[in-house]
Amino acid sequence: MQAIDLTPRIGTEIKTDVETMLSGKLSNEIRALLEQRGVIAIREINLTDEQQVAFTRTLGTIVDAGQGNITKITMDPTENDKAGYLRGAFFWHIDGTMQDVPVLASIMSARRLSTIGGETEFCNTYAAYDDLPQHEKVEFDKIRVVHALEATQRYVYPEPTYEMLQGWHRYEDNELPLVWKHRSGRKSPVLGSTASHVVRMDRRASAALLCRLREWATQPKFVYRHQWKIGDLVIWDNTGTMHRALAYPLDCGRMMHRTTLQGEESFA
Ligand SMILES: [Fe+2]
Repeated sequence: MQAIDLTPRIGTEIKTDVETMLSGKLSNEIRALLEQRGVIAIREINLTDEQQVAFTRTLGTIVDAGQGNITKITMDPTENDKAGYLRGAFFWHIDGTMQDVPVLASIMSARRLSTIGGETEFCNTYAAYDDLPQHEKVEFDKIRVVHALEATQRYVYPEPTYEMLQGWHRYEDNELPLVWKHRSGRKSPVLGSTASHVVRMDRRASAALLCRLREWATQPKFVYRHQWKIGDLVIWDNTGTMHRALAYPLDCGRMMHRTTLQGEESFA
């Protein structure tokens, strides 16, 4: 396996072949690389759905997503009835902040692309934490943040109907530490579009802190932007990164097939 770093702080491209990927021979190496580099890209490998599922299983426990364990990521409501909800993906987020144990990693392959936009950006939250000044690391250690479905949906529907709001409120809020202390000893901030407010902090101070930290974590030195080609496969460590899709026309038919690995570690 040949590995080439894509930026200094995040992202590595690996060159391999389908047979080796499915053999499981690389799984330990890929898992270690994923934790260190946040994102792994394999260019134009063109796996079938069955191969993508089999490859995912070499890395851990696959999330049962029905439909052959493939989730279709598209804004076309005839292909995915949660297409409206997926529009939250245009804003920086971590998958699973409304749960206590988020998914470990996602594996996504490009099947149809838009002619404009649609790149995926990833930022390395481990690196963002490591570069914080020491006094902020100490200060952030004690802070807790409320995550709410409403917060992320308001990016997409700034003026919801009362019925929509009630729908969002059927999901419980999730209070999480601002800084995730991983079993490995590494730390990373838990931010993203679900972050509603800081517990017991003045509204403006809370908004300022969450905005400033998001800006810090997503500055160019921590970001890798993947320009998709059909057949590309990208794996990201959902526990040490945030991601977002760049804008593209909602009716362009862009289609990604995603598999996910079950989480192995809770936020708390
Ligand atoms: Fe996502």
